[in-house]
Amino acid sequence: MKEWQRIAQLSHRTDGSATILGWVTHHRSSGRIQFVTIRDGTGEVQGVVRADEVSAETWETTRALSQEAAVKISGQVRADPRAPGGVELVVAGLELVGASADYPLTPKEHGTDFLMEHRHLWVRTPRQAAILRLRARIIHAIRGFLDDHGFVLADPPIITPAAAEGTTTLFGLDYFGEPAYLSQSGQLYMEALAMALGRVYSFGPTFRAEKSKTRRHLSEFWMVEPEMAFCDFEENLLWQEELVTYVVEEVLRHAPRELEILGRDQEPLRKVRPPFPRLSYDEALERLAEAGMPLTWGEDFGAAHETYLGGLYPAPVFIHRFPAAHKAFYMKPDPDRPEVVLAADLLAPEGYGEIVGGSQRIDDLDLLERRLFEHHLPADTYAWYLDLRRYGSVPHSGFGLGVERLVAWIGRLEHVRETIPFARTLTRVWP
Ligand code: 4AD
Ligand code: MG
Repeated sequence: MKEWQRIAQLSHRTDGSATILGWVTHHRSSGRIQFVTIRDGTGEVQGVVRADEVSAETWETTRALSQEAAVKISGQVRADPRAPGGVELVVAGLELVGASADYPLTPKEHGTDFLMEHRHLWVRTPRQAAILRLRARIIHAIRGFLDDHGFVLADPPIITPAAAEGTTTLFGLDYFGEPAYLSQSGQLYMEALAMALGRVYSFGPTFRAEKSKTRRHLSEFWMVEPEMAFCDFEENLLWQEELVTYVVEEVLRHAPRELEILGRDQEPLRKVRPPFPRLSYDEALERLAEAGMPLTWGEDFGAAHETYLGGLYPAPVFIHRFPAAHKAFYMKPDPDRPEVVLAADLLAPEGYGEIVGGSQRIDDLDLLERRLFEHHLPADTYAWYLDLRRYGSVPHSGFGLGVERLVAWIGRLEHVRETIPFARTLTRVWP
């Protein structure tokens, strides 16, 4: 298998010979000439096969090709400005590597259920492959930013004894006779690691038994969770807007082809620049009331409220200082106004809702114990977490960025299920 080229590199080999390994996406013949389009994950190229330029065997093998047959083709690369990668391949030889009969995903339109049922094959289509490349680019940018700013990658456990984000969305499991759960968030462990390393981040899967069937919810999703010692609420927001802006810039710089395949208008992304607007929860309620969507103080936003607020500005918007009553036990109350917490959600524009949730954490032992009690959480399960407030407690903050929501917004995709290779949702755990 050595000495072959990937399709994306072919444009550098004009008038040279090349060998390509890939899969057939289209095939048509017109008399003594056949056209075979091959994809290999880096791009697509059209091979031109002429009856008088190849052996009879190659001609016949080509004739018998069907969609998704795997092939090895070799020939001469020729510039063709009309072709997608600017080149075509004048085929000299073609071998079948793996046949494909009755491929279920035909070029006609299929319904989403059918496509999700065939997700293992659907990922081969150009649009889905572009989404996965975009996701990889976004993850690369996130990690690059954090690595370059002194954050240490430190991964929390996935099997945990306690809830971080409420007890209603836990996936339980039997851990050698003891109850345990799949992690909803690594945050509590990240707080411990921040006290050891200063600035840390995790990047890993998190799990929530979400009973809601929306285009924003998965039951298994990937989260980036930075946590910083000696960092207050305001500085936490600065990190978030710097990170999100950097990711968008990197995508514009390195993934324009993916955005083009997705039909993503780049103009709105170019308007993403810090500082992001900041609206307090109270101000947000006023805006919602003006728009005919009144809420009483203390009520949580629904998807429609988030969509409206996120649409008020070209860049993402922070909604901050939520009523403490409905928020997580670990969030620090605002010293000037203890009925609200120093927490913020970052809402994306264009109807994508919350992409980041973050807060300054309670650093006072007594207050944290009281909050656990008020949330009916057993203090002994959190004993190690309370230790962090016993031994050199410091102001600290962090946030969780949902990778799938970020990919959905940047790619302007309809549903988060297309942003992850194999989505897990309320109704799907297959394939
Ligand atoms: O707002 P959340 O629940 O925050 C936390 O878990 C904190 N412990 C994070 C932290 O401060 N370290 O979740 C954070 C983000 C959300 O803003 C959203 O982007 C994403 O995770 N998210 C989901 N994404 C897909 N499907 C779901 N069911 C999600 N739930 C949250
Ligand atoms: Mg949240």
